[in-house]
Amino acid sequence: MFESISPAPPDAILGLTDAFKADTNPRKINLGVGVYKDESGQTPILTAVKKAEARLLEKETTKSYLPISGAQAYALGVQELLLGEGHALISEGRIQTAHTPGGTGGLRVGGDFLKKFRPDASIWVSNPTWANHKAVFQASGFTVKEYDYYDAAHQSLDFDAMLEALSTVPAGDVVLLHVCCHNPTGVDPRPAQWEKIAEVAEVAGWFPFFDFAYQGFGTSVEADRFPLELFAGKNLEFGVAASFSKNFGLYNERTGSFSIAGQEKAAVEAAFSHVKTVIRSNYSNPSRHGGAIVEEVLGDPALRQEWLEELDTMRDRIKELRTALVEGLSARGIDRDFGFIAEQNGMFSFSGLTPEQVKTLKEQNSIYIVGSGRINVAGINRDNLNPLCDAIAAVMD
Ligand code: LMR
Repeated sequence: MFESISPAPPDAILGLTDAFKADTNPRKINLGVGVYKDESGQTPILTAVKKAEARLLEKETTKSYLPISGAQAYALGVQELLLGEGHALISEGRIQTAHTPGGTGGLRVGGDFLKKFRPDASIWVSNPTWANHKAVFQASGFTVKEYDYYDAAHQSLDFDAMLEALSTVPAGDVVLLHVCCHNPTGVDPRPAQWEKIAEVAEVAGWFPFFDFAYQGFGTSVEADRFPLELFAGKNLEFGVAASFSKNFGLYNERTGSFSIAGQEKAAVEAAFSHVKTVIRSNYSNPSRHGGAIVEEVLGDPALRQEWLEELDTMRDRIKELRTALVEGLSARGIDRDFGFIAEQNGMFSFSGLTPEQVKTLKEQNSIYIVGSGRINVAGINRDNLNPLCDAIAAVMD
């Protein structure tokens, strides 16, 4: 069988990491995969996480299975981050949460669950979107369609086109929305625009499915959850896949969630029982370690505070790097205003570099950028900023 199989293409994002590792150029720069790096180029383990792990080592008494949807304390911790402590959806039991293998696992569990009850629906993703969204939902059996999102000429949200597109999505279809720090563009709707999106969702009757991979990387943990509070306030049913890869730095612990929220506790519980059957037939139940870390940090006020401060540091550093990049490019007299990079949110900058320019940067400078022109700003530091700006200036000549 294997002899008749030709190789799959490398992954658009993780494949770049493999190529970067194989590159022997000592001055290589990895701005591909969305992983936070500190000034020394390391992806650190947060201090709050290390402390929680030390406690877990002491406290752990068994390696027995978790429930299919994970620990209840983890689910509650996730819900309180998504919506804020004491939110009505939580106190009234109208939100249910499963611990999934990362945010990607949350998207896939959500996709499989939705496909079961909406077999003829399409799922709509923004154009552009995270390179893996289409593959995840196609694997769930969905036809994937796109709604307008980005105005490349003005490096901004094409809000009119977005709203127009969303208002034509048929009732019962699924619309994937990035809660904050849109991947890959870093361009998010403003609160007033979210209000309009929620109004369209209400009138059109499509199912909102949120991808929340960067909570805390936009403005703050609280401010970034605004779209969820808004949809919850309108009593709309929705799903959320969330991730602790970025905001807890738990990338390889694969720690995420899938939640569903609705108007009636009994209906949400019935629906959630099917989320569990999806999980059971897929990976049975989640691995514990990453979730236990999150539980430990969120459950202890001092550790929680320490985590929030570390998250602030990561976010502030990325914002400073954005400004440094804009200044570095402008100092080289490039005939284009890169000021928009400083306005974007989250880890990524949608640079506007063409696929050819991205290819040249890789081949001539060992600078690794996703083919769409998406730069992981967190991969920049004092040592590589100047060579990076020189290289970008050269390809733009
Ligand atoms: C990214 O967009 O680079 C990250 O979300 C990592 C991934 O899995 O693609």
